[in-house]
Amino acid sequence: MVAVLLLSMVFVQSCKDDEEPEPQTNNEFIADDASFSGWESWDLVDTKSGVDPALTGAHAGNDSTSVRKIYVKNSQKPVDGMYPIGTLIVKHMKSDAMEMITAMAKRGNGFDAANNDWEYFVIEAGGKIVVDNGTAMRGSTNLMNGMCVGCHSKATTDYVFTE
Ligand code: HEC
Repeated sequence: MVAVLLLSMVFVQSCKDDEEPEPQTNNEFIADDASFSGWESWDLVDTKSGVDPALTGAHAGNDSTSVRKIYVKNSQKPVDGMYPIGTLIVKHMKSDAMEMITAMAKRGNGFDAANNDWEYFVIEAGGKIVVDNGTAMRGSTNLMNGMCVGCHSKATTDYVFTE
């Protein structure tokens, strides 16, 4: 019952948001390039600096100059410890030597049920999903050998570190 109510809330909200027709049903959200455009104007929920725990020392530029900004679309928050389907979160990491933008979308519908149905992405500044050697950088256990989801499984709230 609660789940049904939640899903219908997400659906109603997405109908109100008429600026971008996203490929969405009432129980699955499949992000595309348009989903991430304009991420810089979403809610900036946290800014961190210093060495990024997500990057190994092998990355040049993962140093004290690193600044990471976390943006959430439409102020989505967890409900009973779970983010609603359609939640979009972007992390912009920049240091003197490098810049990297990663994202998560709550996809739902058993996409990766063992890991709370999040999909992970590497995106370009304009929001396009990065394509590497013909393969879009998106997924969960398949993306970078499950590196993203593996580390995010240690976060306390629904695979999300930022409160
Ligand atoms: C070794 C651990 C680790 C790995 C691997 C990792 N992350 Fe993260 N990620 C974090 C931490 C810790 C944060 C919290 C913000 C910070 O400290 O930079 C975070 C934050 C984020 C956020 C903002 C939401 C949140 O959880 O706070 C997104 C989006 C994100 N990461 C996406 C990715 C993607 C996509 C990948 C794979 C390409 C990835 N992460 C790999 C540890 C990791």
